[in-house]
Amino acid sequence: MCGIVGYIGDKDALPSLLDGLKRLEYRGYDSAGVALMDSSTLTVTKRIGKVSELEKEFAGREAKQTLGIGHTRWATHGEPSDINAHPHMDEANAIALIHNGIIENYAAIRTKMEQAGHIFRSATDTEALVHLIEEMKNIFGDLETAVRLALRQVDGTYGIAVISSYEPDKIIVARKGSPLILGIGDGEFFVASDAAAIIHHTRNVVYLSDGEIAVLTRHSSEIKTIDNVDIEKRVEEITFDLEQIEKGGYEHFMIKEIMEQPETLRNAMRGRVLLESGDVKLSGLREVLPVLENARRIIITACGTSFHAALVGEYMLEQFGHLPVEVEYASEFRYRDPIVNPGDVVFLISQSGETADTLAALREARQKGAAVLGICNVVGSTIARESQGGVYIHAGPEIGVASTKAFTSQLVVLSLITILIARQRGLSEEAGREMGRALLALPEQVEAILKNTDHIKAVAERFKDSTNALYLGRGYNFPVALEGALKLKEISYIHAEGYPAAEMKHGPIALIDENMPVIIIAPKDNTYEKIVSNVQEVKARKGRVIAIVNDDDRTLEGMAEYVIRVPRTLPCFAPILNIIPLQLLAYYIAVQRGCNVDQPRNLAKSVTVE
Ligand code: G6P
Repeated sequence: MCGIVGYIGDKDALPSLLDGLKRLEYRGYDSAGVALMDSSTLTVTKRIGKVSELEKEFAGREAKQTLGIGHTRWATHGEPSDINAHPHMDEANAIALIHNGIIENYAAIRTKMEQAGHIFRSATDTEALVHLIEEMKNIFGDLETAVRLALRQVDGTYGIAVISSYEPDKIIVARKGSPLILGIGDGEFFVASDAAAIIHHTRNVVYLSDGEIAVLTRHSSEIKTIDNVDIEKRVEEITFDLEQIEKGGYEHFMIKEIMEQPETLRNAMRGRVLLESGDVKLSGLREVLPVLENARRIIITACGTSFHAALVGEYMLEQFGHLPVEVEYASEFRYRDPIVNPGDVVFLISQSGETADTLAALREARQKGAAVLGICNVVGSTIARESQGGVYIHAGPEIGVASTKAFTSQLVVLSLITILIARQRGLSEEAGREMGRALLALPEQVEAILKNTDHIKAVAERFKDSTNALYLGRGYNFPVALEGALKLKEISYIHAEGYPAAEMKHGPIALIDENMPVIIIAPKDNTYEKIVSNVQEVKARKGRVIAIVNDDDRTLEGMAEYVIRVPRTLPCFAPILNIIPLQLLAYYIAVQRGCNVDQPRNLAKSVTVE
């Protein structure tokens, strides 16, 4: 999620670092920092805000340091601030570390390090690692061994770069789960998490694989595994241009973000599902566990796509938590003097954490005495800061205006909150375990859907000239119908409505004719038979049925004009799978209509005005 750059050579490192960091800014960062090495003096400079803020710190600089690392941060643990920005340093200020990814067992490492006398300065997971490296260095003497042995104790994901005044002529980098590229120049090496940062210096690169570590000096590069086995890597040439790199090789951010979902789902549940005990661990809610246990009612409020996630949350929390849940548009909640009683807990869902109506709803609820809890993507955003507690969805920066990966991550977090509350209220250990297992299986199931997009492209081709579309679903899939319709109208400008399938006969049925695509979400759950009847009703009026069905469904095959198959999961998690083909369908239709997919007309990513 964050950005890494590094330079070792004969030139001044700072311009390359700042320039590289700026080229990574398109992903939307909150703070930046660099560590520079001058013979044996290590200096770290870091600032909250844009790279230009960091740059100002170097006005009038005369020194020339030929080795350095830089980082742009997108906060995951600890809000954006000067202190939480990378690089992080050890106790002796002799080792500087930058890190992308999430260290899952950072709390345990931190406790161990604190017991050993280390004093922490930041709230980040990263700082635990630099203290651990220091500890290993004190025992084993050399930096490379220290880094390798420290990494062997880490659970989670990382792309890291380390420099140290103990061994001032090298950069050590390693990766597991977060990309890292070495750029090979003439008597110089570059390091980057994203080719965009170094492509104007060199197109010759080595891609590090998971579990590999590289030691770079001015004239050599040595690559080995974390278990200390030497390896040879091929130097490859980057042939694509900058814009393609920024979009990860995809044509638009939206499709990149759709395709990222297996990974973002993993990040949303990383370290949070405790399979053994059938529980979940959500540290952001630790302080409010008694409040949740005694809650009499839950209100969830949000806007746009986040509101649709809230509706799924309502169904889940009522089914498993057995407590009343109300969902309301934040814009309505804030103005209608809602009844908020003691014992009410209000959840605010917001990708950006800045939506004006959602923020106002938070303040309204808090002023009325409710406990307010946030479900946000952007760490340190206003809603996150003003909430009493909450859960981050860890989806990484979402740039496409139409929300995709944030939605599925919001659903994962709502599922985790459901398990937590349900376990407090008598859900059995075994049932908790079953839900945990089903959640952990979702990333691979999403991968399977994303592997087969040709079929969805063909449906898009068939319906790209439609002027209207109807989306129908029941139960957990009614909100999916709303979200599918929202995606289509947002980016393709086709008028689309989402409806509970049974409500069709109270109005939308009048619109159905041979030109009307009707997208029916029909997984095998307790309303399956009913929805099959709805398909018949649409067909009887010559509507064009596109059915989203489970892999093993045979009934709808002959009835629907098109079937799109998705794997089976528990009914409560089906929205996480069923929305994926609908995101793709909207995307391909919009592309085929020549629309500006990432920035649809009149829409904004973050609506900070009323
Ligand atoms: C805007 C965006 C939507 C988003 C909504 C709520 O309308 O275009 O994609 O769902 O705001 O945003 P939030 O950041 O609060 O989730």
